[in-house]
Amino acid sequence: MLRTLVSQTGFLLSNIKNNGERIMGSINTLLGDAFFNQKAWDDESTCYDVMNSMEAKGTERELDEIGIKESDTVLDIGCGSGRMSIPMARRAKRVIAIDSSEAMIEICNRNINDSGLSNIDCQRLDWENDDDYEKLPQVDIIIQARWSGGASSLKKYMKKGKKIVIIEWAKNSPRVVRDTLFKDCFSEEAIQEHPELAPFDPMAYTNSNEGYRIKEARNKKLRDELKEVGIELHSKTVQGGMEYFCTSKEELEKKLLYLSTHPHLVNLEKFKENIVPFIEEKEDGWLFYYPTWSKIEWFNTIIEV
Ligand SMILES: C[S@@+](CC[C@H](N)C(=O)[O-])C[C@H]1O[C@@H](n2cnc3c(N)ncnc32)[C@H](O)[C@@H]1O
Repeated sequence: MLRTLVSQTGFLLSNIKNNGERIMGSINTLLGDAFFNQKAWDDESTCYDVMNSMEAKGTERELDEIGIKESDTVLDIGCGSGRMSIPMARRAKRVIAIDSSEAMIEICNRNINDSGLSNIDCQRLDWENDDDYEKLPQVDIIIQARWSGGASSLKKYMKKGKKIVIIEWAKNSPRVVRDTLFKDCFSEEAIQEHPELAPFDPMAYTNSNEGYRIKEARNKKLRDELKEVGIELHSKTVQGGMEYFCTSKEELEKKLLYLSTHPHLVNLEKFKENIVPFIEEKEDGWLFYYPTWSKIEWFNTIIEV
């Protein structure tokens, strides 16, 4: 119901015919649709997977902080293309990876297959859907990483997990990285047709945006609930980073181009200028590095698995 309301509001906003149309469209995509509309995640899935392939080292650092044991069963809610599920399965007994986006699940299953791991159960389930939620078993650890709709309620977490881990971007989210690498790379026509290509709008991360307000309200509600029952919330910021090495500069440029949802619309000359500060020639090839940081928050519930 809430989701429908938000996407309807977004739809109305993006249809306002005035000078603010493009900006409204971009805000809607950034925090309205993109946070709540499954189609947006389906559309993002391919470039999200490219990005994830550049994040292996940072992801391992996040996993080090979580402290997964060999005997643990972990539930990865909103697993995306499996950025965490796959390396997690090398540390845990079993991983249950769920996502409500069909395209993400398809890519995740392909990545699991390529990994050769057999202890990941990956399926399309919506954490917000009551029937899907009831199907999920109780686990040792629940991970909700970069799950833009905000935290879930304590009651929901408590029924399913002993330890809950929530990971959010602390600095340089993919949106920021993309806006830097693809700055001035799209024509007005391309942006009109695909509003999500419009550059980041600072207004989007303020209280004036409905998607942002909903997310903040959910995060605050969880904090209040934890306080009320005296559960301590721990927090740590970890450096991640997007990193990729290729033997030739051309090969690297081609890979980076696929960080865009619409690589064929990119102005290549401008793009090649933009990436210069982030690529470096090494003895045997070219390295791309863009620093990012994530905030990891965790708390223990009281259920016995
Ligand atoms: C930004 S991606 C994060 C993917 C992954 N956790 C990671 O850290 O790379 C957010 C994912 O959450 C999924 N998602 C959004 N709402 C969901 C829901 N209600 N139930 C399950 N997955 C959901 C989206 O489809 C998307 O794949």
